[in-house]
Order: sequence, then C-alpha cells, then structure tokens
Amino acid sequence: MSILVTGGTGYIGSHTVVELLNKGYDVVIVDNLCNSKLEVLNRIFKITGKTPRFYKVDVRYEEELRPIFEKEKITDIIHFAGLKSVGESVKFPELYEENNVGSSKVLLKLMSEFKVHNLVFSSSATVYGVPKHVPLMEDDPVGGCTNPYGQTKLDIEYLLKDYAKEHKDANIAILRYFNPIGAHQSGLIGEDPQGIPNNLMPYITQVAVGKREFLNVWGNDYHTIDGTGVRDYIHVLDLADGHLAALRKLAEKPGLVIYNLGTGRGTSVLELVAAFEKASGVKIKYVIGPRRSGDVDENYADVTKAKREMNWESKYNIEDACRDSWRWQKNNPNGYDE
Ligand code: NAD
Ligand code: UD1
Repeated sequence: MSILVTGGTGYIGSHTVVELLNKGYDVVIVDNLCNSKLEVLNRIFKITGKTPRFYKVDVRYEEELRPIFEKEKITDIIHFAGLKSVGESVKFPELYEENNVGSSKVLLKLMSEFKVHNLVFSSSATVYGVPKHVPLMEDDPVGGCTNPYGQTKLDIEYLLKDYAKEHKDANIAILRYFNPIGAHQSGLIGEDPQGIPNNLMPYITQVAVGKREFLNVWGNDYHTIDGTGVRDYIHVLDLADGHLAALRKLAEKPGLVIYNLGTGRGTSVLELVAAFEKASGVKIKYVIGPRRSGDVDENYADVTKAKREMNWESKYNIEDACRDSWRWQKNNPNGYDE
C-alpha cells in the first residue's frame, strides 16, 4: 500500500509528502530533479523523521518508470511532475507538450497495465482562461488558455476524462490550484525558483531579503479594489492537505471528480505587499509598471464543492502564508543551495 508521488521533491510535492508521512502513508517519490534538489529529502527527514523512497526517474520514459511499478506496491498516485513556467512555455511549446502531456500518457499506460486505480492530478486555475465571472466554479467553461503551459494542463484533463471513460474502475481527482504561496512552518522547505522569479510571492521575499532592489507591480489600472491584480492565494500547507482529502475521496470510488483548491478570497498585489510587511516587519519597495501580457483583473475560486464533497477548506490566511514564506526565505536566502 504505497502512494507514488511524481514530482515529489518540488515545491507543492515536498509539502504534500511531509503531510503524507506525518499521517503514516508509505511514500515513493519519482522525480528527474529538473527543477528540484536532492537536499529536499534531508529536509523532509528533519521534519518528519522519515525518508521516503526516492527514484531519479523521468516520467516521460516508460523504461525508467516501469521498474518502479514492478518493484513497489502502488495503490494511489499523486502526479505533480511537470514544467510550470509560463514564459518558458511560450518559448518552448513542444517541450511543454512532450514533458507534461507525454509523461501523463506514460503514467496512464502503466496505471492501466498494473491496475492502479486512483490518481490525483495537479491542474491549475489557468484552464479557465480569461474568467467571464468570479468566483470560478468547477463547471464553468474551460479553454482559451493564454499560454502553452495552461494548454498542457487542459490537454491532460481531457486525457484523464477519456481514460476514465475507458476504465470504469478508475478514480481520478483533478485538482485546480489557484495561487500557492507560503512554506512549511519549520522554515526547512519552501519554494526555490531558479533565476528571476516570475510569481509575486517569491519576488516579494527576494526583495525583502535584499536579493532584488524593488518589486515591479504589473499594472494599477485593473478593475479591482486598488487597481492591482486580484488573485486567490492559498497556503501550500492547505493545498497539501487538499491532496490528502482527495485521496480519502478516491477511496469512496467516485469515478472522475474535479475540485478547485483555493480560499475563495481575492487579494490584490498591494494588499499582499501590505500583509507581507505586517508579517515580516520589512518594508517592500515597489514601482508601478505596465500591465503584464496575459494577466486578468481578478481570479478567485468558488470553493463550496471541495467543502461539500471532500470536507476540505483552507485554514490559513494571507498573513500566515506571508510569515511562513518569509521564514523560509530568511533562513534559506539561496534556497536549497548552501
Ligand atoms: P515544481 O517545479 O517545484 O515541482 C515539479 C517537480 O516535477 C520538480 O521537482 C521537477 O523536477 C519534476 N519534474 C518535471 N518534469 C518531470 C519529469 N518529466 N519527470 C520527473 N519529474 C519531473 O512545481 P510545483 O509548484 O511544485 O508544481 C507542482 C505541480 O502543480 C505542477 O504540475 C504544476 O504545473 C502544478 N501547478 C503549480 C502551480 C504553482 O503556482 N506552483 C499552480 C497550478 C498548478
Ligand atoms: C501565473 C500564471 C499562471 C500559473 C500561475 C502559477 C501568467 C499569466 N499566469 O498566475 O498560468 O498557473 O502563475 O504558476 O503568468 N505580479 C506583479 N509583479 C510581479 C509578479 C506578479 O505585480 O513581479 C502580479 C501579477 O500581475 C498578478 C499577481 O501579481 O496580478 C499574481 O501573479 P503571479 O504570481 O505571477 O500569478 P498569476 O499571474 O495569477
């Protein structure tokens, strides 16, 4: 009875592995380390006193993944492995298609062959494209993705729907994440972006720690409370907990289910900056810049379905997440690099 976690040394994967180990699950990680470090395993051990079994495997290659299915007694899979940089996906769309969609196809093939029935998949709110209204509900239209990364998530969702039609014993939870931020309260694991961060929170923490001079606020003429973009920032520990709720749901054999994982609350860029300053005591210098292409005014989740059907809801607020992101950054100014 083991849970296979693809991409388990990454940001969301590592936090989920900690929660799984703490709850007594037997965890097997496969990751090719293209965007994570082995040091994560030491940190997981420091937090939990346990080391998950780890295999350096590229999920795209069946010959690498097959021996893990042969060796381990896998009952459930959480599939985090994937590339996630929006800008990079615009430059290298084929790589994103091959890595994200290709690896999902390999995983499904082996699932079918080895009769593993339960799968949790990391999707994204990006599949909703440009929202016609907020909050977004799971049965709102999807499509019109503004970048190749988003399109891979949508393509995988379709792949999973087809798979569930063909495999009546399959139970699949598609989880659409909103904006994950925060870190484990130990300060030992967190988000470790390579190069210049694209996303807001890691940029703020790097300004706070002195690695960047100021934050560029991309636009202040949106139709929002203060003109800056509004998003649904969810603490990564709440997100991790959502995966455990999804595993419990799959044990009820529901077939294919889709849930938004967010808080249901929108926060503007300037509100997040203010919350961070309050939580950290550090002033964040910022400059208002032009709009970033592809950005929307507001994006936040309707979370009633996850609450109703999985009995899951977020517990942490923005200040908790800011405090925890800051602790991680302050203790690890260079991420996992010593
Ligand atoms: P991450 O980059 O920290 O983790 C992904 C992990 O997958 C990395 O450790 C990477 O080395 C591994 N990986 C990538 N391709 C692989 C392959 N072919 N074979 C084996 N391992 C591979 O990213 P994250 O933030 O933890 O995101 C996890 C998942 O959630 C991704 O699928 C991502 O698209 C999705 N997601 C993330 C966000 C977010 O804002 N972080 C939002 C929505 C959805
Ligand atoms: C982005 C991606 C989305 C992806 C998600 C998680 C785009 C258009 N969307 O979402 O596909 O799923 O990341 O990886 O890239 N902001 C600033 N200054 C910064 C960075 C961001 O003002 O330096 C603003 C943005 O304009 C936005 C908000 O902060 O209003 C959040 O941005 P970000 O963290 O990049 O997330 P999303 O754009 O929601």
